[in-house]
Amino acid sequence: MQFPSVRMRRLRANPAIRRMVRETALDAGDLIYPLFVKPGTGLRDEVSSMPGVFQLSIDQLEAEANELLALNIPAVILFGLPETKDEAGSGAFAEDGIVQQAIRRLKEVAPDLYVITDVCMCEYTSHGHCGALDEDGCVINDVTLEMLAMTAVSHAEAGADMVAPSDMMDGRVAAIRAALDAEGFSDVPIMAYSAKYASGYYGPFRDAADSAPTFGDRSGYQMDPANGDEAIRETELDIDEGADLVMVKPALAYMDIIWRIKETFGMPTAAYNVSGEYAMVKAAAANGWIDEKRVVLETLTGLKRAGADLILTYHAKDAARWLAE
Ligand code: PBG
Ligand code: ZN
Repeated sequence: MQFPSVRMRRLRANPAIRRMVRETALDAGDLIYPLFVKPGTGLRDEVSSMPGVFQLSIDQLEAEANELLALNIPAVILFGLPETKDEAGSGAFAEDGIVQQAIRRLKEVAPDLYVITDVCMCEYTSHGHCGALDEDGCVINDVTLEMLAMTAVSHAEAGADMVAPSDMMDGRVAAIRAALDAEGFSDVPIMAYSAKYASGYYGPFRDAADSAPTFGDRSGYQMDPANGDEAIRETELDIDEGADLVMVKPALAYMDIIWRIKETFGMPTAAYNVSGEYAMVKAAAANGWIDEKRVVLETLTGLKRAGADLILTYHAKDAARWLAE
């Protein structure tokens, strides 16, 4: 049957029927809010390339956590700006490291807020790469695995609910799983940044986390944006190694990957709506060129429709507020 007996517009006629036939529902419970923590007190420093995103000192976390819980956002992912950096990235796994302090504080002041930690070395190494370097400036995979495992364990010891390795070393999920299990943290899940691309969209994040590499780029370990089949292989390996959730990052230029991964594995799948994606929306909105609320809700709904169960996004607070209206 077709036109004129079929008229698709019948089910678009008013808000009630549109709501009844809506296929995708966005919920604040799907959102994970990234937090940047740094040493000091009373600090709430806005990131210039990410309006509305702040680097916070530990004492600011209680108010932040309460705001998130009031908005019905269940989880944060923590990134740290350490006091000092060194070759070995030792701040990443220091017992009193900035992220470890942040976890302890959050668990003290807001035990119901689910605390995820980003596990990587680039915020802590003096060279800004995601692991240990050999004399040619190449990241040494297997040495880095030990650093990542130590970092994940130190986060779990501080009380992290979940760890999320973002380094793209081979074998990191297995190494982290084994280390967590050996230290009595077999109940701490791993969300693997499985299909993480070498992306230009991370630019503003590197301002926020002060983690830009001092030389070269990350193409030797992060994925080539041209590749899709490889994302399936990467994700399959992470699942085999024990990943509990998988992630695609960035989100918008990789919605086909989100779809393929969800279809192929049926795993809980997260999408990271990254800093550059956020910055573009904020810049256009500030110029009055787009309607920020419409665009943000459309983007997040699109990511869900593509197969994302969870979305890591800097828009989380605004989106939760709009969803509650
Ligand atoms: C660390 C890490 C990065 C992001 C998350 N974890 C940066 C990078 O890989 O260079 C990017 C997040 C964003 O752009 O919002 N490896
Ligand atoms: Zn990194």
